[in-house]
Amino acid sequence: MSDKKWKTSIAGIVDGETLIHGYKVTELMDKVNFTAAIWLELKGELPTEKEKAMLDAILISTIDNGMGPPSTTNARNSASAGNPMQAAVAAGVLGIGEYHGGAIEECARLLQMGLSAEKLVEKVLAAGDRIAGFGHKVYKTEDPRAKQIFEKAKKLGFFGEYCELAVKVEQVLEQKKGKKIPVNVDGAIAAVISDMGFDYRLGKGFFLIGRVVGLIAHVFEEWVREKPFRRIPSEEIEYDGTSPRKLPW
Ligand SMILES: CC(C)(COP(=O)(O)OP(=O)(O)OC[C@H]1O[C@@H](n2cnc3c(N)ncnc32)[C@H](O)[C@@H]1OP(=O)(O)O)[C@@H](O)C(=O)NCCC(=O)NCCS
Repeated sequence: MSDKKWKTSIAGIVDGETLIHGYKVTELMDKVNFTAAIWLELKGELPTEKEKAMLDAILISTIDNGMGPPSTTNARNSASAGNPMQAAVAAGVLGIGEYHGGAIEECARLLQMGLSAEKLVEKVLAAGDRIAGFGHKVYKTEDPRAKQIFEKAKKLGFFGEYCELAVKVEQVLEQKKGKKIPVNVDGAIAAVISDMGFDYRLGKGFFLIGRVVGLIAHVFEEWVREKPFRRIPSEEIEYDGTSPRKLPW
C-alpha cells in the first residue's frame, strides 16, 4: 500500500501511456467511439452494443432545445458581453438547475428509494415540492424526447422496474393534480439510467455531457452572427419602483 495522497482508479499514465480503467487511450481512440469511452469512464467497463446505443440516444436528447432555456441564454449573453469560450460555456452550465436540466439526479434518487408510485408522489407533494422529472414549459401532454427514450429503452431491453415506476408516477400525479404532468426528458433519462445500474448522483452529469456540446455551438454562433453586447430592449423593460424623489439631506 502506497502512502500517496492522490489516488484514482479511473485513469493514469503508466510507462508514458494514458490508461483509462486499464485500456490504453491510443487503443480506445482506434477501436471505440466517444459514447463507449464515456460509458467506460463512468462505469469502469466497456458497454455492450445495446448499452452504447441507449447512452447515445440519451446524450443526443440533451444536446439542444433551442435558444429559450436558461443554460443557452446564459451562455449567449455571456458570449455577447465579450467573454471567451470557457467563461461563456461555464455561464451556460450555471444556468442548469433543479428546474432545467438538473432534475435527473433528484428524479433518479426518488425512483431508487424503493417507494411505490403512490408513496413517492404523496411524499413529494406533502413537502410542497414538485416531482423532479415531470412537467415541462412547452410540452404539456407529452415530451417527445421522453417518449423516444422510453421506446428505445423497450427495444434495447432497458425498460425495467424504474421505467415502469416513472410511468406509474405520471398516472398517480395526474390523478392527484387533475391534469397531465408528463414525464419529461430528465425523468425518462433518470428512469433509464436507474435501470442501467447508474448511481443517481451521476444524474446531472448525463445532461452536462450532452448540453455542453449545444452551448459551444451557441456561443460560437453568437460571436459570428450577432453584434456584441445584447441588451434587453427598453420596450420590454419596466421600472415600477418608487417615483423620482429627493435625498433627505
Ligand atoms: C418544468 C416546470 C418548471 C414547468 O412548470 P410550469 O410551466 O409552471 O407548469 P404548469 O404551468 O404546466 O403547471 C403548473 C401546475 O402544475 C404543477 N406541477 C408542474 N410540474 C409539477 C411537478 N413536477 N410535480 C408536481 N406538480 C407539478 C404545479 O405545482 C402547478 O400546480 P397548481 O396549478 O396546483 O399550482 C415544472 O413542471 C417543474 O418544476 N418540473 C420539475 C422539474 C423538472 O423536471 N425540470 C426539468 C424540465 S425538462
